[in-house]
Amino acid sequence: MRTEHAPTIHRADYAPLAWTVARIDLHFALAPQATVVTSRLACVRNPDAAPGPIVLDGEELETLALTVDGLDPAPGTVRRTESRIEIDVADRDEVALEIVTRINPQANTALSGLYLSRGGYFTQCEAEGFRRITWFPDRPDVMARFTVTLEGDKAACPVLLSNGNLVEEGELPDGRHYARWEDPFPKPCYLFALVAADLVALERRELTASGREVLLQVWVEKGNLDRAGHAMESLVHAMRWDEETFGLELDLDRFMIVAVSDFNMGAMENKGLNIFNAKYVLAKPDTATDVDYEHIESVVAHEYFHNWTGNRVTCRDWFQLTLKEGLTVFRDQQFSADMLACAAGAEGGSSARAVKRIDDVRVLRSAQFPEDAGPMAHPIRPESYQEINNFYTATVYEKGAEVIRMLHTLLGPEGFRNGMDLYFSYHDGQAVTCDDFVNAMAEANGRDLDQFMRWYGQAGTPRLRAQGEWNGADGSYTLTLSQSTQPTPGQPDKLPLVIPVAVGLIGPDGADLPLQLEGEHQPGATTRVLELATETRQWRFTNLAAEPAPSLLRGFSAPVILELDEDDGRLAFRMAHDSDACNRWDAAQRYAERVLLQLAADAAAGRALKVPAPFIDAFGKLLRNELLDPAFRAQALALPGEAYLLERMEPADPAALRAAQLHVGAELGRVLAADWLALAESLVEPGEYRYHPADAGGRALVNLALRYLCAARVDAGVALAAARFDSATNMTDRFGALAALMHGAVPAAEAALAAFYRRYQNDTLVLDKWFALQAGAWRRDAAAAPVLAQVRELLADPAFSPSNPNKVYALLGSFFRANPGEFHLADGSGYEFWAEQVIALDAANPQVAARMARALENWRRFTPALQAAIRPQLERVLAADGLSPDVTEIVEKALA
Ligand code: ARG
Ligand code: ZN
Repeated sequence: MRTEHAPTIHRADYAPLAWTVARIDLHFALAPQATVVTSRLACVRNPDAAPGPIVLDGEELETLALTVDGLDPAPGTVRRTESRIEIDVADRDEVALEIVTRINPQANTALSGLYLSRGGYFTQCEAEGFRRITWFPDRPDVMARFTVTLEGDKAACPVLLSNGNLVEEGELPDGRHYARWEDPFPKPCYLFALVAADLVALERRELTASGREVLLQVWVEKGNLDRAGHAMESLVHAMRWDEETFGLELDLDRFMIVAVSDFNMGAMENKGLNIFNAKYVLAKPDTATDVDYEHIESVVAHEYFHNWTGNRVTCRDWFQLTLKEGLTVFRDQQFSADMLACAAGAEGGSSARAVKRIDDVRVLRSAQFPEDAGPMAHPIRPESYQEINNFYTATVYEKGAEVIRMLHTLLGPEGFRNGMDLYFSYHDGQAVTCDDFVNAMAEANGRDLDQFMRWYGQAGTPRLRAQGEWNGADGSYTLTLSQSTQPTPGQPDKLPLVIPVAVGLIGPDGADLPLQLEGEHQPGATTRVLELATETRQWRFTNLAAEPAPSLLRGFSAPVILELDEDDGRLAFRMAHDSDACNRWDAAQRYAERVLLQLAADAAAGRALKVPAPFIDAFGKLLRNELLDPAFRAQALALPGEAYLLERMEPADPAALRAAQLHVGAELGRVLAADWLALAESLVEPGEYRYHPADAGGRALVNLALRYLCAARVDAGVALAAARFDSATNMTDRFGALAALMHGAVPAAEAALAAFYRRYQNDTLVLDKWFALQAGAWRRDAAAAPVLAQVRELLADPAFSPSNPNKVYALLGSFFRANPGEFHLADGSGYEFWAEQVIALDAANPQVAARMARALENWRRFTPALQAAIRPQLERVLAADGLSPDVTEIVEKALA
């Protein structure tokens, strides 16, 4: 069927290379279709490895020359295939190789290696892009010192950047110029980068904690300088935070961020030269929403934090990816929480932190839980892969961050910091494994973490079953916790994990009770962390005056599915009283989920849909509670996401679920209309826009109110949304109003959408929102054309481009992944479209195609009729000529 089988790589097969590289001197003669790369390698024998040849990786390279110590290699000493060179070297421990390759950046539509974007040259080397530039042992345990000379056309590329420090620059004949860069730190080649383009920089000089002056630059296209300020602010905040929180200082004289329009992922932490998807750099009030500002802050911080967790200490092999990603996501989450808390001030601090935690939990549940329950399920440290690019996953990143967070919970902030310090003292400058990290944590804290390591090897989301028993006679409450994990592909049997469970007990008046465990002499704190390390265990709380309501897994203390039988009344009670904001939100989510899934079942069975009054009542109480921070209310009043709900539905029936969502949303809008209106009108716009959590919370809540009002087509609400759209002075308000109008599919939506397009037609990042909104639209009128028709039409819009990943994610990603109710059409036409698009994208950009392909990996969860329509389309993709290893792996695993 297919042309090529990607071999499976196993973690257990790791072996160090016989030869590594101490230094590399690179020279680039840049030209769009024929860039000549001259690489001089100082190769050294690895004393710790079994003897063998020098091994180099390459992909799509035209090799012009190769010499060994300045000479043509002796006959029979070099073996070369398309992707590998082996060179036998006898009787020496050091060898100088010189290799000349020619590459074609313009033809590089995969955006891996050296490619062109809007006339400039950019690189992306993680994970295995460097081999598309020159022959090199392309693996992270080979750490070399880099010097890089760039030579290019001065008019087209006035700016020439690479890692480290600029040591020389000058003019050349024929309108060309050059620059030479030296990176003082040895690094793996995945951290190499170059940029040659027509850019301008926002600059700032800062002192590090130890008093060194550093130059910070944010490079953007001319005309975007007024959008670079927030990224710069974020960078400075990240620098300060890492100094204060972990004692980690910037180690270079210069740190650069570069925005590029065409980029597969979010951003990349190349040493001293971070390259970013423009979407995570550029912001001004008229073009970016509060959420965009938030994302920029966290991605800038994430990449900056990698300088220590990733660059100074890197991964031995790609199976260890979570070593740097899980840890760095945890660090950026803590940073964002601290920034929010700091902005909110003493009073709002804990609520602001909870809002951030809720955001992170939402992402985990809607993106990672489904992954962990499907054919791609893998431990945060995978045991095998076919294509490493498929493993930059929610599991490696987000669940990986949860695992680090559990360590932080178990060891406490100080113990965690001590572990970090020890980790750096042992491993600075090395390429290491997840065991090295956990061992440092264990040693610094005198704690055995062997069982904890199972989190690194076991896939699947554990289920945590909780049962409470009240004994009125002696005022005790017995809590029984048990764990189990379902089998995942290749892992039939699961072992018990160490699960920290933060517990509170709520008294009948809604206040937390002091917790006293059996055997203790007096009550302690009102939230305590219990450690479940066996299959099942009991705890007995004593000295209680009345039966408590348990509040479990506070702060979402472990990445598990909590199963606890609570009736509607109990959920409403916790919605009103749980002192843990995360759990208060979670109680609302659970109640909403129960209602939505019941209505979905009713819809599937053709019964009439009715939203239970007590639910609306509990919901309305939260809505009217002005003691609650608006940002929190916006979270608690938002219904659970569709992806998460489909995961909880057996079998997943997107049409029935959509019917339920439409109905519940409209009912909450209709019945509570007066409250929503009062709320939207009472939250007055705070003067000139500033990105500030307090203001952002208010804007989010108003936009949510407009959404419900428009869903219910409440006239006054629709009028308010239209007015706010017209008079908005910032993107958050303008886009929020537009989204509400669209969501309600009210007549005013069309004109607003057109006005939005006219206003931003030359602003490609804003147009991504315009595409995403239409692709994610919900149909309220069964007679209206399906969204699929609109998506097809938008493919032909002059502003769309299939070669720009952001456009693909905005239009196709929003449709396939964020709009199941419209994508999963009963006639299968959505799936046909999916197959056609995946195949077309794959020919140009496998990474982007593989991301789209994943939209159907959990296909076996759907109704039999939908499965029958999906299977032939999966098979059609798999049968396509020249399918990439990326998409092959996804589809093969889905069909397995
Ligand atoms: N290390 C980057 C980050 O997390 C992501 C690079 C992803 N590259 C890839 N080819 N999947 O910040
Ligand atoms: Zn990262």
